[in-house]
Amino acid sequence: MIEILELQGGASPRGRFDQAAKVLEAGGLIVLPDRRFALSAAETRMLDPSISDDRAKNISLDPATGRVSGTRLDDAGRHVLAGLIGRFAQTADALLAELTPRYAPALQRRRTSFRPGAIADRALSLRKDDRRLHVDAFPANPVQGRRILRVFANVNPEGEPRVWNVGEDPFDAVARRFLGRLVVKEHAATVKEALGLTKGRQSAYDQAMLRLHDAAKLDHGYQADAPRRRLELPADSLWVVYTDSVMHAALSGQHALEQTYLMPVEAMAEEALSPLRILERMTGRALA
Ligand code: SIN
Ligand code: FE
Repeated sequence: MIEILELQGGASPRGRFDQAAKVLEAGGLIVLPDRRFALSAAETRMLDPSISDDRAKNISLDPATGRVSGTRLDDAGRHVLAGLIGRFAQTADALLAELTPRYAPALQRRRTSFRPGAIADRALSLRKDDRRLHVDAFPANPVQGRRILRVFANVNPEGEPRVWNVGEDPFDAVARRFLGRLVVKEHAATVKEALGLTKGRQSAYDQAMLRLHDAAKLDHGYQADAPRRRLELPADSLWVVYTDSVMHAALSGQHALEQTYLMPVEAMAEEALSPLRILERMTGRALA
């Protein structure tokens, strides 16, 4: 059973770290149903899918460059977007500092994304379709064993929930189902890095996770039959989840923000629960 820990209200009492980290590491979600991420009037005008350019899936802010990409807006509009997305990044930092303070020094903040489009409107290939159950894996940005922890906010102004399915099977069961005998392509990884197709070296772990992502999405039987739980993530809520180990599918909803963090497995309360260590136990070799 997947655990959904609902935390109401503002300040959290001491000792929640153990509880929050434990829930997350065991494959659960932390939902904060009333921790509203409020938008200014100018920011509210950004809740419009037509501000996207038609190439990128999301509008995002790169923390390294401060650049906003994925929008057709001019400099004035980009300025408003950068403010909105940057403030959400800080909110996510503050939330994790509160919920999982022991993670804080180890968290590596990556892209922050703004998702003004309606989920059901996206027409995509099976592999890109996040309405199908999957774990997250980045084709161009190898994580080399690090965890992917994500903070989401539903900022829908009409009170519409964001509806997800989350898989009930634990990560090791899913990995056994899809990865069976893992073949690592060392040569392919070197070529991809040399051609600039990946930022840094694609480790055996990255290859395995990409395969798991694709195999799950392409498996019609799994998509139809896997045990799952439907979650309605309310408007004006925040939630936190390790999207590299929890099978998830975003079914409907519009207007969300998302902050991605990478974290070395050594910073977990229980490293053995990481996908890296689970896959290493399964294969009997180092993968990152
Ligand atoms: C995903 O990570 O699969 C998409 C989540 C969302 O946009 O709600
Ligand atoms: Fe995902």
